[in-house]
Amino acid sequence: MTASEAADEVVLSGPRLVRGRLRVPGDKGMSHRALLFAAMADGRSRVAGLARGEDVGRTRAALAQLGVVTSDEDDGAVVVDGHGVDAFVEPKGVVDCGNSGTSIRLLTGLLAGRSFLSILGGDESLVQRPMARVVEPLRTMGARLDGRAGGTLPPLVVRGGDLVGGVHHLGVASAQVKTALVLAGLQAHGTTEVIEPAPSRDHTERMLAALGAPLTRADERAVRVTAGEPSPFEFTVPGDPSSAAFWVVAATVTPGSDLVLEGVALNPSRIAFVDVLERMGAAIEIVHTGEQLGEPVGELRVTSADLHGTTVEGAEIPGVIDEIPVLAVAAACAEGITEFRDAAELRVKESDRIATVAELLTGLGIGSEQGDDRLVVRGGRLQPGVIDSYGDHRIAMAGAVAAGAIAGETRVRGWRSVATSYPEFTRDLAALTAEAP
Ligand code: S3P
Repeated sequence: MTASEAADEVVLSGPRLVRGRLRVPGDKGMSHRALLFAAMADGRSRVAGLARGEDVGRTRAALAQLGVVTSDEDDGAVVVDGHGVDAFVEPKGVVDCGNSGTSIRLLTGLLAGRSFLSILGGDESLVQRPMARVVEPLRTMGARLDGRAGGTLPPLVVRGGDLVGGVHHLGVASAQVKTALVLAGLQAHGTTEVIEPAPSRDHTERMLAALGAPLTRADERAVRVTAGEPSPFEFTVPGDPSSAAFWVVAATVTPGSDLVLEGVALNPSRIAFVDVLERMGAAIEIVHTGEQLGEPVGELRVTSADLHGTTVEGAEIPGVIDEIPVLAVAAACAEGITEFRDAAELRVKESDRIATVAELLTGLGIGSEQGDDRLVVRGGRLQPGVIDSYGDHRIAMAGAVAAGAIAGETRVRGWRSVATSYPEFTRDLAALTAEAP
C-alpha cells in the first residue's frame, strides 16, 4: 500500500490473501452506550477496549462538556466518574458530534431530560441527517427541541426537563431512536414504551438490564422503561462485528485465505451479515466463548469460498444495514445477482450509501441498478479503478476490501474517513494481508 497524506488517498494492490488472527477494535455502538450509561450512574465505572474512533471520541468529549470526568488508565481502559444525570452541567459551547449519528441522537434523548440548554451540531454529513425521528417523540414527552428546517435537521437546540412517559410507535426500526427515547424515559414520570416496526440492535436493552436499570422487554420489538439509573460497572467492550465484517468478506473472496477474528460481539442483532454470507456460500464458523453485560462474545473463523447471489430484504435489513457496503463487494465477487431491497435507510447514513456503493462498483467495472430503496448488484470480474469514499468510513473500507480482490492497483480517495470507526484499519490491513503468490 502507498499512501499520500496530502491527497488523502491510498493505492492498494491485489490480489491479497487474508491470513492470521486478529482482535478487531471495540464495538462502536456499545462504546457510545458504555460511556453514556457510566455517566448516568452514580460511581466509578471502568471500560476496557473502548473504540478509539472519532465517533466515540465525540461522545466522550460531549460528556466532558457536561462536566463528566473520564480518564485513561495505563492499561488502556477508560475510567468514568459518574455522579448521575443531576450532576450534568449546561455545556458552555456547541456540542460538536462530528460525523456521529449515534452521538447526536443518543445525546438528544439524554439531554431532553435535563433542564438546561444544549446545542448539538456536526459535520457537513451529519447536518443533512434526519432528526425528526428523535425530535418529534421527544417533544411529545415535554422537551422543547428545535433545529434547522423546523427541527428536522441539526444543529439541534434542546431545552429539556420535566418529561412524561408515553407510547411511541416508531416509523423506522432504529436503535438510535429507540435508545434516545429510553434515555429520556429513564428521566421521565411514568412509563415510556417504544415499539419498532422490526427489531433493531438491542445493546441498550441488554446492557441496561444487566446494569439493573428499570427496563423490560415485551418482545423483540418493544421495550419499556420507568425512571431510574444504571449502576456503575466494569465492562470489556467486545470487538465490533461491523469492523469484523470487512475482514470476513476479504477472507471469503480471496482464494487461499484463512482467518480467525477473536473477541467479536456475537449479538444476534449484529451478526446477520454472517447469515447472508453463508447463504451466498461463505465458510464461516462461529464459536461462542463468553459474555459481557448480557452481550455474547466469541470467534469468527473464515476460509475462502465461492459465492453466489442472494436477496436481502424486509426484517433482515436493519440487522445488516451497516454491512451492506461490504456485502455489496461480496455480491460483486459472487456469481449471479444480489438484491438489497427495503433499504431506504441506506440513503440517510454517513453518505447516501445506495449511490456511493453503486458508484464504487461502477468504478471497478461492476454493474448495478439503484431504486429508491434498493440496490441490485450483478456479480462479475472486478477491474482495478478509482474509488471515492465521499467521507464515509464504511465506503472507504469496503473499497479496500474490493481492492484486495483485484489483480492490479486500485486507488481509494477519502481514506482519512476510516478514522471515524476504525483508526487501526490501515495497520490491520498491513498485518493481515499479503500479496497472493
Ligand atoms: C446504531 C444504530 C444504527 C447503525 C449505526 C449505529 C447504534 O443506526 O446504522 O451505525 O449504535 O444504535 P439506526 O439506529 O439509525 O438504524
